[in-house]
Amino acid sequence: TYLGSCADRVASLAFSCPETIHWPLNQSLNGMKAFLKYLCCTLFISFIGCRANPVFNPSENIDYCLAQASKTLQTIPPEDSLLPRNIDRNKTDWHFVPGTDWTSGFWPGILWLLYEYTGDEKWRMEANRFTRLLTPLSARPAHDHDLGFQMNCSFGKGYRLTQNPEYKAILLRTADTLATLFNLRVGTILSWPGMKKDKNGLHNTIIDNMMNLELLFWASKNGGPYSLYDIAVRHAETTMKNQFRPDFSTYHAILYNDSTGARIKGQTHQGYADESMWARGQAWAIYGYTMTYRETRDPKFLEAAQNAANLYLKRLPEDMIPYWDFDAPNIPNEPKDASAAAITASALLELSTLVSDKGIAKNYYEKAVKILAALSSEKYQSRGKNSAFLLHCTGHKPAGTEIDASMIYGDYYYLEALLRLEKMKN
Ligand code: GLY
Repeated sequence: TYLGSCADRVASLAFSCPETIHWPLNQSLNGMKAFLKYLCCTLFISFIGCRANPVFNPSENIDYCLAQASKTLQTIPPEDSLLPRNIDRNKTDWHFVPGTDWTSGFWPGILWLLYEYTGDEKWRMEANRFTRLLTPLSARPAHDHDLGFQMNCSFGKGYRLTQNPEYKAILLRTADTLATLFNLRVGTILSWPGMKKDKNGLHNTIIDNMMNLELLFWASKNGGPYSLYDIAVRHAETTMKNQFRPDFSTYHAILYNDSTGARIKGQTHQGYADESMWARGQAWAIYGYTMTYRETRDPKFLEAAQNAANLYLKRLPEDMIPYWDFDAPNIPNEPKDASAAAITASALLELSTLVSDKGIAKNYYEKAVKILAALSSEKYQSRGKNSAFLLHCTGHKPAGTEIDASMIYGDYYYLEALLRLEKMKN
């Protein structure tokens, strides 16, 4: 009523006219008044509605990432051959690493994502420049399972966008190299050969390793040997059997007897305890099994992805961003891990397109949007504090490193998730 009378006044003022006005004109003015009243009310109600239930806008956050990445680019001299990895808490400068670092693929990956979004040659050229720094990794024996992260996020993204045959040859060679870490008796890839040699001689497999199967799946379908597909499937099956606890939380690492293949025990490296649920490990499981289902269409992998996701969502704190470990002893006074949130948001968006039940799909989609909205808030975006996208990631709490920091992989999966959402909305 109040809005109606306000609109009436606005309409009267706007259309006040001399008494001598003729009847047909008066009639049409009355019609216009009614229309204006309707317009005012509708606009006001939708304004109130938007305020009460804000619509998350991925594109304005992608634009934010573009602006931040431009700032980072300006800090890297053209002749430099290092890549940004992290910015420590309350610091403003990136810590740079060589191409051999496990995180080296994420910066080129971010540049490829920005090229995909903008179609701007500038980003393609920068992406190519940083991707090429990783070329030597394809021509040496496998250091560890991270070869998948390194090469799939850089050359892999690049190849999918440009079809550059040189990238393809490098990827195929790298997939063969990664496969040399596969142990047929255990049924998994050896994640950390260095640790096996130095510590106990036992074959180790970490949950993160699920992510690196994507390179093998891709290679098996793009001219590489079919055995790469079998290796990826066997790894996913063995991990599903041994790495999940009965409640579907995951162990960070499993140790196996190298020659019999027997499972020895589960343990952690970056989590709080052997039996705890390390947040990023659970995120890798959700993403890894979602991707494995996409590549195989075997329902058991979809079930594994959903089981891991459902537990993660059930145990999330109210603001949708997990603490670095779901069982850390001093929650709520523990650092968060925004990178786990970003990985999970991206995975949930894909998972929402793979499940057939519409209600379940909607739930995964809505949870992903809520996570992205939280990550895009003032608390989690770096904004003027540094040139990364996100704050509050935790790399290795037990080692006391990269706690409450900006991490390049958090940024990468955040941007990937925003782009996925933007495409889904369109
Ligand atoms: N893949 C190593 C990590 O998640 O920290």
